[in-house]
Amino acid sequence: MELKNKKILIIIGGGIAAYKSLDLIRLLKKNGSEIKTILTKSGKEFVTPLSLTTLTRSKTYENIFDQDAEAEIDHIALSRWADIIIVMPTTANFMSKLTIGKAEDLATTVLLASDKNVLLVPAMNVRMWLHKATQANLKVLQDFGYLFIGPEKGEMACGEFGEGKMSSPRQIFSYLKNYFDKKDIVKKKNLKALVTTGPTREYLDPVRYISNESSGKQGYEIAVALNKLGIKTTVIAGPSNYKTPKDIKVKKVTSADEMMLNVKESLPVDLAVCAAAVADFKPILKKNKKIKKDEIESNSIMLKKNNDILEFLSKNNKSRPRIVAGFAAETDNLTKNSLSKIKNKHCDFIFANDVSKKNIGFNSDYNKVTMIDKKGNIKHFPKNKKSFIANKIAQILLDRLLDDRNFN
Ligand code: CTP
Repeated sequence: MELKNKKILIIIGGGIAAYKSLDLIRLLKKNGSEIKTILTKSGKEFVTPLSLTTLTRSKTYENIFDQDAEAEIDHIALSRWADIIIVMPTTANFMSKLTIGKAEDLATTVLLASDKNVLLVPAMNVRMWLHKATQANLKVLQDFGYLFIGPEKGEMACGEFGEGKMSSPRQIFSYLKNYFDKKDIVKKKNLKALVTTGPTREYLDPVRYISNESSGKQGYEIAVALNKLGIKTTVIAGPSNYKTPKDIKVKKVTSADEMMLNVKESLPVDLAVCAAAVADFKPILKKNKKIKKDEIESNSIMLKKNNDILEFLSKNNKSRPRIVAGFAAETDNLTKNSLSKIKNKHCDFIFANDVSKKNIGFNSDYNKVTMIDKKGNIKHFPKNKKSFIANKIAQILLDRLLDDRNFN
C-alpha cells in the first residue's frame, strides 16, 4: 500500500494514450489511493465513463452543468478534495487552453479554480511537441507552476518516432510515489527554511542611502518553491515588493544589520538560502539630519564592512542549518570566484549569476545560474524564468537535505 489514502484526481484528455489511464488507475487503487476522474469530451472518444467508474468505484465527472454531479460534489470541492491532479494524456490543444486560462468545460474550470499541484502528462505527435507554439506554451505552464512528466522518446501510435510518447503508467506511478514520499517526510519532520532576499539600504542620513539594483525576485521565487514543497518558509526581505502566498512569513527589513538580526531570530531552520544582495558596506556614522552640501568634503564618507550573513549561518556551530546556500553576483570569473566563496564562507552551495548581462539577473524575470557545491560539482541552468530556476533549486536543496545520512 505505497500510496495509501492519497487522493488523486485524474483528468482524462482526448488522445489515443487515454486508455493507459485505466492501467494507472488499477495500479493506484492496488496501492491504496482514492481516485476520482473527470472525462473530457474528447477523452470520451477513447475511454468510457463505465470503465472508469468500474475501476475507481466512483462517479466519473463529465459535465460542468450536471445537476446530479454538482449536488454530490461541486467542481470547486472536487479540486479541494484532491492531494494532486493529473492530466493524462495532456494534448497540445489542452496545453494551449491552460496557457490562456480557459474555463470552458469541467476540466479547465477545475484547473483554473485549483491551487493544488497539477501534473501534466503530455502525449502528442513529435512535430506537435516540438512546434514553437507548444514549446512556448510549455515555458508558460512551467512558469505557472504546472509539473510535467515526459513526454518520452519512442514510437508513437501514428507510426512516427521521436519525443511525444506519453510516460508509462509505471513511470507516472514512480513519480507519484517519489512526490508523496517527499511530501510526507517534509511534513513529518516539520522542515523549515529561511530565505534572505532583496537589496539592503545603508542610510547616510534620513534621505540618502547606499544600495544596489537587486529586485529580490529570485529569492521570493525560491521561497514560493520551497513553500510548495511543504517546507515552512520565512523570507527576510530588504526593500522590495512581491506578493507571496499567505503561509509564507515575510519579515521586511531595511539595513544589513536588521537583516542579520531577523535571521538570528528565525533560527533554527533546516535550510537557509541567502539570496539577498546585502550591501557590503555601511556608513560609519548615520546623521540624524539631512547632510548639507557644505558639511561634506569630497571623498569624506567613511564606510565600514557589514557582517556577512551567509558566513554567519555557515559557521554558526550552535544552530547551523543543515544546508546553507548562497548566491554570487559576479561580472567575471564566475566559477572561480564562486568556488572561493564556498571555501571562505563555508556554505554548501553557491548559485552564481552573471550580473553583467542586461537581460538576466538583476531586475529581470529571467536568470541564468551556475550551481557549485562544496565538492566542486558544477551544474548549469540555462536561461529561464526565475520561477522555473527557483523550482529546480528548491528540489535540489530538498533532495540534498533528505540525502543527508545524519538527517534520517
Ligand atoms: N552575503 C551576506 N551578507 C553580506 C554579504 C553577502 O549574506 N554582508 C551573501 C549574499 O546573500 C550572497 C553571498 O553572500 O549569498 C555572496 O554575495 P556577493 O555579493 O556575490 O559576494 P560578496 O561576499 O559580497 O563578495 P564580493 O562583493 O567581493 O564579490
